Amino acid sequence: MESKAIFVNAGGGFNTVITEQVKINKPDSNEITVRLHANSLNYHDYAVVTGLWGGPSEKRIPMADGAGEVIEVGENVTEFKVGDNVVSSFFPTWINGEPLVDGFSSVPGDGIDGYAREYVTSSSNSFTKSPKGWSHVEASTLTTAALTAWRALMCFNTLKAGDSVLLQGTGGVSIFALQFAKMIGAKVIATSSSKQKMERLREMGADHVINYKAEPNWGAMAKELNGGIGVDHVIEVGGGQTLDQSLTAVRVGGQISLIGILSGQTCELNLIKAFIQQVRLQGVLVGSRSQQQEMIKAIEVNQMKPVIDKIFSLDDMVGAFEYQETNSHFGKICLEF
Ligand SMILES: NC(=O)c1ccc[n+]([C@@H]2O[C@H](COP(=O)([O-])OP(=O)(O)OC[C@H]3O[C@@H](n4cnc5c(N)ncnc54)[C@H](OP(=O)(O)O)[C@@H]3O)[C@@H](O)[C@H]2O)c1
Repeated sequence: MESKAIFVNAGGGFNTVITEQVKINKPDSNEITVRLHANSLNYHDYAVVTGLWGGPSEKRIPMADGAGEVIEVGENVTEFKVGDNVVSSFFPTWINGEPLVDGFSSVPGDGIDGYAREYVTSSSNSFTKSPKGWSHVEASTLTTAALTAWRALMCFNTLKAGDSVLLQGTGGVSIFALQFAKMIGAKVIATSSSKQKMERLREMGADHVINYKAEPNWGAMAKELNGGIGVDHVIEVGGGQTLDQSLTAVRVGGQISLIGILSGQTCELNLIKAFIQQVRLQGVLVGSRSQQQEMIKAIEVNQMKPVIDKIFSLDDMVGAFEYQETNSHFGKICLEF
């Protein structure tokens, strides 16, 4: 039997995206076959498909985030049964413990084929169960953005009720970070460049909202909004143009989770400011499979749901990325098929 898959050629580029029919493999003893129904988009997937960071080294099925239903299991697989709803793991080879992964060579949709396809047969470690009661589209939002936000806040210097978190913009990572921070009772200072999105941030429970375009010194403003002592934690997704403001915003001994590069990959770092603040600059690269399972447990107990901005079809994957380019989304953009 054959099924549909979307490929991007080596080097990437929207004009190299093609649809092909591919064989559905039978699972071997430790594998499962999943009928995929949804993907969600991330900046990383955008970079793979457009070739922004050089693109894949060979023809590749993109998309790291995939969710669907198990339709066949190998004879040694005990964790899943036919009919289970599952969501992909960003690092299928990083099960738990310290991060032994190095870069993106084992990541579906980058170093290996991903989930822009109707069926996949792969190691059972490539998936975890989806949260109970979540649709496939909802579950597909978890693999990259949600787990990154979860790990940043909950797996280093664990966030506590009453702590303060500064978020940048209203993309997938920041909106999940807002939800997790409110879930545990933290104070949230959020930023956005859009008036409408600022209103939505308030509706979602953000305690303070700053327009980072209108207020270029938003770091000092965030510090003031936390009693002049600065915030406990910054979810740093801006990168090049934002890290200096984050250093201004963070409290002495606080943490900046280095996650994104939306405004550039490099910057000049004021080392004096960094050590005077005695700040922890913590690089975060998504998380392990067991961290994903812990996150899903918390999501189920708290009956949380993701914020989905817009859903496209699999055939319109390029259209979905072009929409992402406009930065008009709030939360996640998904594909459903
Ligand atoms: N390290 C990791 O493990 C990891 C995992 C996931 C993502 N990331 C990275 O994190 C970043 C965010 O990813 P995402 O998927 O959340 O992106 P996204 O959904 O595409 O986020 C886009 C939003 O970010 C905001 N933004 C854009 N430029 C900004 C700037 N200069 N300052 C503040 N906010 C800005 C805008 O919000 P407004 O419209 O509200 O202004 C924009 O709508 C990306 O660089 C991505 O590569 C890293």
